[in-house]
Amino acid sequence: MYEGKVEKNLDFRSDTVTWPSPEMRQAAAEAMVGDMGYGEDPSVNELERLAAEKLDKEAGMFVTSGHQGNAVAILAQTGKGDEIILEARSHIYSMEKGHWAVIGSLVPRLIKGVDGFLPSDQVRANIHGSVNEGFRTSLLCNENTNLAAGGTAIPVNQMREMYDTGKELGLQVHTDGARIFNASTALSVDVKEIARQADTVQFCLSKGLAAPVGSMVVGPQDVIDRAKNFRRMLGGNMRQAGIIAAPGIVALTKMVDRLQEDHDNAAYLGQGLEKLGFKLSFPVKTNMVFVDLTSVGWGKEEWVSACAKSGFKTGVRSPERVRLVTHYGIERENLKRLLEDLASII
Ligand SMILES: Cc1ncc(COP(=O)(O)O)c(C=O)c1O
Repeated sequence: MYEGKVEKNLDFRSDTVTWPSPEMRQAAAEAMVGDMGYGEDPSVNELERLAAEKLDKEAGMFVTSGHQGNAVAILAQTGKGDEIILEARSHIYSMEKGHWAVIGSLVPRLIKGVDGFLPSDQVRANIHGSVNEGFRTSLLCNENTNLAAGGTAIPVNQMREMYDTGKELGLQVHTDGARIFNASTALSVDVKEIARQADTVQFCLSKGLAAPVGSMVVGPQDVIDRAKNFRRMLGGNMRQAGIIAAPGIVALTKMVDRLQEDHDNAAYLGQGLEKLGFKLSFPVKTNMVFVDLTSVGWGKEEWVSACAKSGFKTGVRSPERVRLVTHYGIERENLKRLLEDLASII
């Protein structure tokens, strides 16, 4: 049976490229199933219960992707014409095709975060004074870990400050926690501590946790009930979804503890690249390494050619910057080989 190794497929583009572990494949094969649309899929129900328990929320729901999870959480906590506060470089604002505008008729108020943190004075400055002005600001979203800040983990005290400010202003607070378990690992806190600083949280099973498909949304029961209607609207009302929920249960119960290995590997990779003369765009905090190519006089072309020679894949973020993400299936020996290849090419 498949061993869970990426082998020659040295794919550093993202943690979304992980393949399911042998245990996940086994779980999928043996999954109990029912009709999720009728609430009768035992594996989905167990996964939803487990997700809510792990993040200490009232209820959980299984969605097809992080994108869908953010969309339904936002739609469930806003009304048409409302304003929502988003970080200017957040995944929700920049990568999700504007579901908040197209489906929600929501107006974004953008704040440039400081390493993902939205300072209280800026949040306050983005709230319209009164309903008579014709706008209602209803939701504040943040993202932890924070991609635009190099995969950094926003500390709990900053998450709390954003939550408290939101609550003081009468807002709901949603956390895009696609990689919330990477955040809790990096901060050495229980994930509940981070989740407590938001009304709703979306997190992905299919990134560092290596499940093949799916994300979870957790929050208060009434919000989750509303979000389920939007999930149906968006085509996420799956049927015998236990086949994909069962690997999600393995992801939550077996894969969280190994995230530290990915972080250690990213730190090792970052140090190795620095020894070769590359500058890193951000300190390595979780499983992401952002490299400034100009520091060795390279551009995108040189990097792409090095990748082609050595057989690894990375995400090219701009003409000068690339991103490497460590994840399940990438091991220390792979990193050593990558660094040796780069050294010989340089
Ligand atoms: C921070 C963040 N939020 C949300 C998503 C969306 O997740 P998905 O690809 O499952 O739709 C991603 C995907 O990479 C992400 O990085």
